[in-house]
Amino acid sequence: MHFVNRNLANPKQTSNIGMETTLSVEELNKREAEFDAKIAGGKTIEPKDWMPERYRKQLLRMMSQHAHSEVVGMLPEGNWITRAPSLARKAVLLAKVQDEAGHGLYIYSAAETLGMDRSEMIDQLLSGKAKYSSIFNYPTLSWADIGAIGWLVDGAAIVNQTVLAKCSYGPYSRAMLRICKEENFHNKQGYQIMAYLMRGTKEQRDMAQDAMNRFWWPALMMFGPSDTNSPNSADLMKWKVKLHSNDDLRQRFIDRTVPQAEAIGLRIPDDKLKWNESTRHYEFGEINWAEFNQVISGNGPCNKLRMKQRTDAHNNGAWVREAAAAYSAKKAASKK
Ligand code: 3HC
Repeated sequence: MHFVNRNLANPKQTSNIGMETTLSVEELNKREAEFDAKIAGGKTIEPKDWMPERYRKQLLRMMSQHAHSEVVGMLPEGNWITRAPSLARKAVLLAKVQDEAGHGLYIYSAAETLGMDRSEMIDQLLSGKAKYSSIFNYPTLSWADIGAIGWLVDGAAIVNQTVLAKCSYGPYSRAMLRICKEENFHNKQGYQIMAYLMRGTKEQRDMAQDAMNRFWWPALMMFGPSDTNSPNSADLMKWKVKLHSNDDLRQRFIDRTVPQAEAIGLRIPDDKLKWNESTRHYEFGEINWAEFNQVISGNGPCNKLRMKQRTDAHNNGAWVREAAAAYSAKKAASKK
């Protein structure tokens, strides 16, 4: 009988969550065939199911990046909680920022089912090994930026996440259901801020347009590199983690957002933008990929600030984690 090991990252591990087994070729082929059949049949993969090591690693990479994005995403908006223009706006923004913390927690928990502890994922974020969304490395300079983030950034996130809600990994897809509902509220409150400003004074309209000008292109970058330059897409699409490509989702976002901008009198900062009647899609200009690459490699306008703020928050919260661990140890000891 032949024994093989197809896991190059960890030669001893052929199945999920640290089960160190060496499978026969026949057994491995059988499990792979069952896994492929589940994916082809639209069934979800659950934490205790066998899965190829590369599927597990790709999911962990993507889900931890997603969870980090939710948490780092609290920083640019948190910056405006004390300066919101009314009590109602403050209450809404506070609730939104808290929602983002919750999203981070759901996704970290879902990612933990793949065998990595949350503290390890956070270490990877703080050491710069793990990425988070490029969009959060741009500054929030005015109140209108909070509208632009809710409308454009959460709007882009919804386009991506409603599809992820149907992805092949059960815990990830289920985490997306509630997240999408909350993102819809975020999106509407952002659009409402922009619409309100656009009905205001010239200064308010200029402020909204300025936010639009600065956030439009970074929002398009949230969908990742173009399909021809996306090294992870082939795996993720084969395994139905991604059901649509980066470019398809970007197009979907543009098609639904341009009419919203027009409805409130905002101009899209793209001279090449035009409706194509035969494709029934908007054509648009070239994304600045050099800027995108700079931002995702740590050199965006706010990368260093965001990581400092996140690291400080993590260090300042050490006593809370210690207290929680001591409390749960005490509770466990009292049950013995
Ligand atoms: N920002 C930072 N890094 C990005 C990026 C972006 N906008 N787009 C791509 N990248 C990175 C990828 O992580 C990958 O790096 P890695 O291999 O070192 O991990 C590299 O660029 C190549 O990109 P790929 O297209 O090959 O990567 P993916 O196939 O993983 O696709 C993705 C990238 C479309 C962002 C995908 O990971 C994804 O859909 N992730 C889940 C959704 C997510 O993370 N959203 C974050 C937005 S924030 C949010 O939703 C919060 C809300 O409250 C606003």
